[in-house]
Amino acid sequence: MKVALITGITGQDGSYLAEHLLDLGYEVHGIVRRVALEDPTHRLQRLSGFIDRLHLHAASLERFPSLFSVVSEVQPDELYHLAAQSFVSYSFDDAFSTFRTNIDGTHFVLECAKQLVPKCRIYFAGSSEMFGHANEVPQTEKTRFYPRSPYGISKVTGFDLSRNYREAYKMFVASGILFNHESPRRGFEFVTRKITSYVARIKRGELKELPLGNLDAKRDWGFAGDYVQAMHLMLQQDCPEDFVIATGETNSVREFCQLAFEFAGLNYEDYVVTDPQFYRPAEVHLLLGDATKSKEILGWEPTIKFEELVEMMVMHDLDLLAS
Ligand code: NAP
Ligand code: GDD
Repeated sequence: MKVALITGITGQDGSYLAEHLLDLGYEVHGIVRRVALEDPTHRLQRLSGFIDRLHLHAASLERFPSLFSVVSEVQPDELYHLAAQSFVSYSFDDAFSTFRTNIDGTHFVLECAKQLVPKCRIYFAGSSEMFGHANEVPQTEKTRFYPRSPYGISKVTGFDLSRNYREAYKMFVASGILFNHESPRRGFEFVTRKITSYVARIKRGELKELPLGNLDAKRDWGFAGDYVQAMHLMLQQDCPEDFVIATGETNSVREFCQLAFEFAGLNYEDYVVTDPQFYRPAEVHLLLGDATKSKEILGWEPTIKFEELVEMMVMHDLDLLAS
């Protein structure tokens, strides 16, 4: 039985990936913060349907010895490094802690693996935010990085560290350059879930308006359940490589709003207001991925279209409030 270790298992992607690997017959271990074990009802909520089948270990991305001891105990065949301060907006408020978590944390994970399990296959969670102010559309594995946020900078550094461990120490480290992916398990601070959760509360009469920032930003939005499958496929290849994972379709925040309100029988123009506090000091205006390499080498393709994704999230949030 293969052994997988996931950092960030409590997050959106970690929870889908854990489920996927359990289905494939893996022994699945996850690193969680100690506070999560102390407050499982809230902090382990995304794992609630299958938590009995997982092995959870307390460690912190900021403390090398804690990671060292978990990797040493688990001896993983595959290590999925997903943990990160992942909210772009917050990275402008506290760049220092974002760098500590995302850069030092990634460095610690790679170094633990090098010292303890050099043959382990490692996935690094790269991001389309690394393209930032992209010089071409669509973006591929060859597109230049021009990050526009501390978060984006931290991911470029994590990506470079991963490539350097691959080249310098001949380790199997693959990075996914994943475009935005969403689901009913998405955190409420991200724009898609913010919109669908507000739609549900507006529909029930609990709220009267939805304050947003830049409605014209465009993102290539896919379904998280599809994207974690690509992470696993990357670690099953003969050689470690980097892959863009995207749908090849881009939509604006405004279009997401329009559709989400329509699914609830409402007109977004009656409720959406713009609020300067939700604008960013530097914005990424347009992301659109070309996942041709992933299709050809991994055999990966997205299964959920934009409209289905929006409907899935709106219906989930309506049901959540009704229950
Ligand atoms: P998420 O829902 O925000 O989950 C982040 C995970 O990281 C959580 O499990 C969180 O634990 C953990 N974490 C954060 N800081 C930590 C720390 N200091 N020590 C230990 N654990 C820590 O993110 P996601 O959407 O699943 O994304 C997974 C990864 O993919 C992230 O690296 C993200 O940057 C990257 N990514 C995401 C997308 C996307 O669209 N979703 C696209 C490209 C790349 P707690 O639950 O305890 O907070
Ligand atoms: N969060 C948020 N809240 N975003 C808003 C709002 C708002 O009220 N109003 C407009 N937006 C715009 C943002 O300015 C951005 O252009 C877009 O909506 C998407 O924002 P987020 O959903 O916060 O996602 P993100 O694109 O910044 O980052 C996500 O995707 C990256 C991959 O490209 C995160 O999941 C990152 O971790 C991930 O790497």
